Amino acid sequence: MKNGNVALVEKSAITELLFGDLWHYAPAPESTAVTKIKPQYGHFINGNWEDGAEHFPTINPATEEILSHFPEADENTISKAVDAARNAYKRYWKTISGIERAKYLYKIGRAIQERAREFAVLETMDNGKPIKETRDVDIPLSAAHFLYYAGWADKLDYAFPGVKPQPLGVAGQIIPWNFPLLMAAWKLAPALATGNTVVLKPAETTPLTAALLAEVIQEADLPPGVVNLVFGAGKTGAALVRHPDLDKVAFTGSTDVGKRIQKSVAGTHKRLTLELGGKGANMIFEDAPIDQAVDGIVQGIYFNQGHVCCAGSRLLVQESIAEEVIQKLKIRIASLRLGNPLDKNTDVGAINSQPQLAKIQELVASGIEEGAHLWAAPCELPSKGFFYKPSIFTEVAQSHRIAQEEIFGPVLSVITFRTPAEAIEKANNSPYGLAGGIWSDKGSKLFKLAGALRTGIVWGNTYNHFDPASPFGGYKESGYGREGGLHGLLPYIRI
Ligand code: NAI
Ligand code: MG
Repeated sequence: MKNGNVALVEKSAITELLFGDLWHYAPAPESTAVTKIKPQYGHFINGNWEDGAEHFPTINPATEEILSHFPEADENTISKAVDAARNAYKRYWKTISGIERAKYLYKIGRAIQERAREFAVLETMDNGKPIKETRDVDIPLSAAHFLYYAGWADKLDYAFPGVKPQPLGVAGQIIPWNFPLLMAAWKLAPALATGNTVVLKPAETTPLTAALLAEVIQEADLPPGVVNLVFGAGKTGAALVRHPDLDKVAFTGSTDVGKRIQKSVAGTHKRLTLELGGKGANMIFEDAPIDQAVDGIVQGIYFNQGHVCCAGSRLLVQESIAEEVIQKLKIRIASLRLGNPLDKNTDVGAINSQPQLAKIQELVASGIEEGAHLWAAPCELPSKGFFYKPSIFTEVAQSHRIAQEEIFGPVLSVITFRTPAEAIEKANNSPYGLAGGIWSDKGSKLFKLAGALRTGIVWGNTYNHFDPASPFGGYKESGYGREGGLHGLLPYIRI
């Protein structure tokens, strides 16, 4: 690395530098003793746990061990849950004051904080994401979401002055597996704060923290039926969306399923918000602070194994600095520690499921087939579980599937540009429009380009930073409606 010229570093030298004894970390596994996983759970309906006829397992994707079993909700079970939500809405939830609703939300938020470690360990076991992410991101943000919306519950008249905002009624909510507890918090907190009751369906591979949240909800003495949980996969989700007595459907997940849901609610009175996929462009200009940008690229695509709808999965880098950025990026990626998600040193955990791993492999194969060049981190994969090496595709053309489709894994597609206008054109050349990032030393450039990006979220000199006060949502095939902030109240009220 003469004169700091990283371009001179060979791949083998990087490996040696980073995987010699100098960089060896002792194992630091988090204990699982704090969790008490039951062999089987029920649906949470009207404040009670209810079993079902058919069951499915949830596994730990890092070990492939079965953690527990959940019942699969059919139409009868869903009707029971919707009826419970309707009764709770009419009899209680819509009639109490915002101050009373706020008290419950504060209680739930505080209980998540008190049991944060238990939630973090459980989430890591069920999902495969590193403990340092569940501990420092998922769980604190979930609590923050409840606390934030508790603050709005008694101030709705001020949030929307001159009108008396009314709740919609009963909401059916469907969430994905990439941020299980956080997505539950994003869905439940604004719905409850505005006086709606809920039937929520967690994703089939990650139901455990939702079940723990139901325990917290019970302990918070939330009136029975205000929050109901039904478990199951796509069939259950589709049946929930079809239920005629819902006033609102809220979905986060794939664009394919989003489109199906849109068709299913078309022509009904149900309101709909969709938070779907993305192919975020993280744009690095030659005047950017390069070292910080390299860390931002890593945060943008390798955070949560790339299972992030707003991931910066397309790196748009200015041609003049492309070689330097890619070299530095490879050195940085080679230092990421992949393995046991429960280890506090782990940076990259397990892919959430076998089908998701197969999807990543299929898209990567298409990238190679179409002529892009693949580089993968020189790390060992554990012998059990679903893992994928952090990877980079260079020589990517705009038309390649890896430039257009959501891989939803730790795979970055690098595209170069020469001028800001070209960067914007390439960034906007996507069916999606969820998130983007801009790295530049010039504030004026940041603001100008942010306005030209057709995405709901734009980060400036950072990436993947979240706050409950900040609205989140997409354009185009990334969906519509906003979650978070004042905007996040709107999909749940009639004004
Ligand atoms: P998915 O969209 O099938 O699953 C998300 C949720 O929708 C789950 O709770 C699932 O049970 C439910 N669901 C599935 N089919 C349904 C239907 N017909 N009606 C109602 N609900 C239904 O996503 P999947 O199959 O797990 O992942 C496939 C791809 O989707 C990923 O590779 C990724 O590209 C994308 N995805 C995007 C997410 C995001 O946050 N935007 C989250 C999860 C997946
Ligand atoms: Mg699981």
